[in-house]
Amino acid sequence: MASLRLLFPAVTLGFASLAQSDQFQIRCASFADEIDIPHATVNFASYIPGGTNLSLVDNDPSCGAAYQSVSSDICRIALAVATSNSSQITLEAWFPRDYTGRFLSTGNGGLSGCIQYYDLDYAAGFGFATVGANNGHNGTSGLPFYKQPEVLEDFAYRSVHTGVVVGKQLTKMFYEEGFDKSYYLGCSTGGRQGFKEVQQFPHDFDGVVAGAPAFNFANLLSWSAHFYPITGPPGSETYLSTELWDVVHKEILRQCDGLDGAEDGIIEDTDQCHPDVATLLCQSEASGDSCLTSAQVDTVHGILSPLLSTNGTRLYPRMQPGSEVYAASAMYNGVPFAYSRDWYRYVVYNDPTWDATKWTVKDAEAALRQNPYNIQTWDADLTPFRRAGGKVLTYHGLQDQLISSDNSKLYYHRVLETMDLQPSELDDFYRFFPISGMAHCSGGDGAYGIGNGAESESGADPEDNVLMAMVRWVEEGIPPETVRGAKFADGAGSPVEYYRKHCRYPRRNMYKGTGNYTDENAWECV
Ligand SMILES: *[C@@H]1O[C@H](CO)[C@@H](O)[C@H](O)[C@H]1NC(C)=O
Ligand SMILES: *[C@@H]1O[C@H](CO)[C@@H](O)[C@H](O)[C@H]1NC(C)=O
Ligand SMILES: *[C@@H]1O[C@H](CO)[C@@H](O)[C@H](O)[C@H]1NC(C)=O
Ligand SMILES: *[C@@H]1O[C@H](CO)[C@@H](O)[C@H](O)[C@H]1NC(C)=O
Ligand SMILES: *[C@@H]1O[C@H](CO)[C@@H](O)[C@H](O)[C@H]1NC(C)=O
Repeated sequence: MASLRLLFPAVTLGFASLAQSDQFQIRCASFADEIDIPHATVNFASYIPGGTNLSLVDNDPSCGAAYQSVSSDICRIALAVATSNSSQITLEAWFPRDYTGRFLSTGNGGLSGCIQYYDLDYAAGFGFATVGANNGHNGTSGLPFYKQPEVLEDFAYRSVHTGVVVGKQLTKMFYEEGFDKSYYLGCSTGGRQGFKEVQQFPHDFDGVVAGAPAFNFANLLSWSAHFYPITGPPGSETYLSTELWDVVHKEILRQCDGLDGAEDGIIEDTDQCHPDVATLLCQSEASGDSCLTSAQVDTVHGILSPLLSTNGTRLYPRMQPGSEVYAASAMYNGVPFAYSRDWYRYVVYNDPTWDATKWTVKDAEAALRQNPYNIQTWDADLTPFRRAGGKVLTYHGLQDQLISSDNSKLYYHRVLETMDLQPSELDDFYRFFPISGMAHCSGGDGAYGIGNGAESESGADPEDNVLMAMVRWVEEGIPPETVRGAKFADGAGSPVEYYRKHCRYPRRNMYKGTGNYTDENAWECV
């Protein structure tokens, strides 16, 4: 949020708001009593001045957020909203003093259960009347789904949609002028929730920013489950240490980095990269720390292959090459992936003792058949959303270690085919930007600073910020041609080493052949 603080220095804001501050604070203090929404119970409404280090005493410890620094003056409202007779969501609304007339809903992550306070703060800091819900349960575990179909239904689609319906009512009650446009911002599970809204509630939003979507959801969790049987536990002959994954990554770069014309450590188009790591096979019996046994070569090739069902259909695409270093500790660490384990235990089989180490593709088929509340989020006819005038901007890091960016490409092509459109026609309402050098939702080796959250913000200019790019698209009719990413020296807020413009799919970035790789104009979309 560094840039916002520069835009509105604390001192100026302090003077300007002194006179109105009472008004806003009084409005906030009296608001709780005014709220009369069916099934909703207000927990509190309280004024939080910008600069507060807010203690989140009620937040589940597993959410890992005991504090949130609040960057701008807000009225914070918390409610419980019943979604059935045996389920409820906790909803927070962060209504900024410096309001721009825009409503926004945030999303969630993983299997949680956690209001994303950092996203509430990020969007409220840009003047959005922002809401975020807990997805129907608290904490990161899948246990609350166990024999609780209503809680599962909240997770599949109902929490976000209920939060939007109630959030819009609250916004109209709180601000005399109501709201003009409505937006969504989310990544990962939040990306799936964004696409669920696009598919099922096409009138909820004017603009949806949905990153690294966890759609094709049942198959995604099966794909995350299938790494353990490939790698085996640490010490088994199929297993690679993180050091060996570093070696594999270097070899993949050696084979693929130059395909975009520049050897800069960043693979611009993973579609062109089909590495063969048999080149790393140890020459002698003794396995070294810089070569692979044939069992380990098979492991790498298994991981870089799609997940197929027993009849040979593709359930989920391959892991995209280039993410090895990030994925090694998350997915190839010789332990079953926790979210997958929980999904099978508490949703697919209703068996808390189910053993994730025994997973086979038969389990994947059972999970797909079940598809509760159509959580797959894989419907490809977006005609109602298009007719409603909605816009969706989606992005996916090409170093994503948790959700393969190949899956976002698969969905893009499904939509093209289902709606019988050309990419240029799809561009009217659905634009997809693969982001080279970006890991899962943020981080990565390259220019991942695209403003999809505070952790990746490098300014409010629509060229540099996907949320502001969406606002400009919706409100001025100017769609994003490229998404400009910042390569930070050491995370958001640190000096920017260079910028790179990420191309709109299916175009890809090529180095022009002259100029410094760090010069954004030395690249072109082809
Ligand atoms: C907020 O307070 C906690 C507890 O004192 C501290 O650990 C944390 O660093 C603070 N955060 C900020 C942004 O100041
Ligand atoms: C979740 O936590 C909130 C407190 O933040 C609490 O009010 C609510 O009842 C909890 N929800 C569930 C489903 O346990
Ligand atoms: C609870 O059940 C009653 C009776 O079936 C129904 O009228 C009511 O709408 C339900 N409440 C919620 C929140 O769904
Ligand atoms: C192949 O398996 C998939 C996944 O189980 C299933 O959806 C599909 O219908 C099957 N196809 C055929 C031709 O049997
Ligand atoms: C390219 O630019 C970077 C700064 O962005 C600089 O450190 C580097 O020396 C330049 N390389 C060449 C070959 O000019």
